[in-house]
Amino acid sequence: MTGGVPVSTPIDGPRLFAPTDLRDLKLANRIVVSPMGQHSAEDGYLNDWHLAHLGQLSVSGAGLLITEAVAVEPRGRISPGCLGLWSDTQINGYQRLIEFSRRYGATRMGIQLGHSGRKGSVSQSWFGQKSLTEDAGGWEILSASRIAYPGRKEPTPINHEGMAAVTADFCAAARRAHEAGFDLIEIHAAHGYLIHSFLSPLLNQRDDAYGGTLENRMRFPLQIFRAVREAWPAGKPIGVRVSATDWIEGGWALEDTIVFARALKAMGCDYICASTGGVGPEQDIPVGPLYQAPFAAAIRREVDIATMAVGLITEPEQAEQVLTEGMADFVALGRAMLYNPRWPWHAAEQLGGQTFYPVQYDRAHPSMRRNNAFVVYRDR
Ligand SMILES: Cc1cc2nc3c(=O)[nH]c(=O)nc-3n(C[C@H](O)[C@H](O)[C@H](O)COP(=O)(O)O)c2cc1C
Repeated sequence: MTGGVPVSTPIDGPRLFAPTDLRDLKLANRIVVSPMGQHSAEDGYLNDWHLAHLGQLSVSGAGLLITEAVAVEPRGRISPGCLGLWSDTQINGYQRLIEFSRRYGATRMGIQLGHSGRKGSVSQSWFGQKSLTEDAGGWEILSASRIAYPGRKEPTPINHEGMAAVTADFCAAARRAHEAGFDLIEIHAAHGYLIHSFLSPLLNQRDDAYGGTLENRMRFPLQIFRAVREAWPAGKPIGVRVSATDWIEGGWALEDTIVFARALKAMGCDYICASTGGVGPEQDIPVGPLYQAPFAAAIRREVDIATMAVGLITEPEQAEQVLTEGMADFVALGRAMLYNPRWPWHAAEQLGGQTFYPVQYDRAHPSMRRNNAFVVYRDR
């Protein structure tokens, strides 16, 4: 049994199926499975749910899959069901997933490393993301400043010792991710979690070297990035997911993101994924198809760095448009991939591209079905 051979579309085919690379990592196409928390782990360990869920998405024909936010320390989980990578004993589960993906798929595997900050210690989304007291299995939460997410418990402002510890946790998790076999790291600096709480002036009211000016507010996020870049092999890429705007007056905005992205690029960041929002319920988001793609476009144009567009990209033509109009280099899909895990196959058929089918599913390919073929000899 062999697997893991990417199938590429000729150069004049759809952009969505054009191969590319990030450092030494070769990607068969531009489709990315966006990180999606499953809140189904116990004590941070990857289990059968994740293996089935991520396993099937790794044979989906997407070029890259990025896991849900994986917590770098127990307090960095959002809910008690978040994945973690704070202990060597957690490596095994990821290793098994990576082995599966290599053996049967061609999708390259990324891990999103994150720390929930003030948005941690809540119940699973299907239980309403309610603050959990310590008696109910919750924990102390950390943030840049003592500003609670509305309706939730107050965070403890993280001190310098705590910041050094979290930075070390990110590095240790990166080393474990390498040992597990991941191809790429995405650092989660978006959605109001710990790193974003330093960036956003709405959440950061510190009066030390990590608060106040934009340069100060970027200091801790950049410190984490620099340390992870050093801990992660030089040939493997690292991207950063940002909230390009808070969508709140007086908050973090696109101009700030551009400055941040320039600093990240100078430190060896390989791409920026442009998400938005997450600081609080007062955000006013004009949700609609491709609503965040203009942010990816602006960052790509201003910073000259690869970008990933995400957010309500559901149709193959939309994804192709994002690429042909130069808005981004990659297109990440979240809910559309849950709804239809074969989205890349269908997009390839619709746009005239090619993508990977595992040998077990060869006969499902439309050309095979049209010919009613059932014996396949393919030199892989
Ligand atoms: C169930 C679910 C869980 C998510 N978990 C994460 C996560 O762990 N990390 C993250 O950066 N974004 C997370 N997101 C956001 C998605 O990655 C994506 O940015 C968002 O859903 C918009 O893209 P879409 O319209 O294609 O779904 C999650 C989204 C969903 C629907």
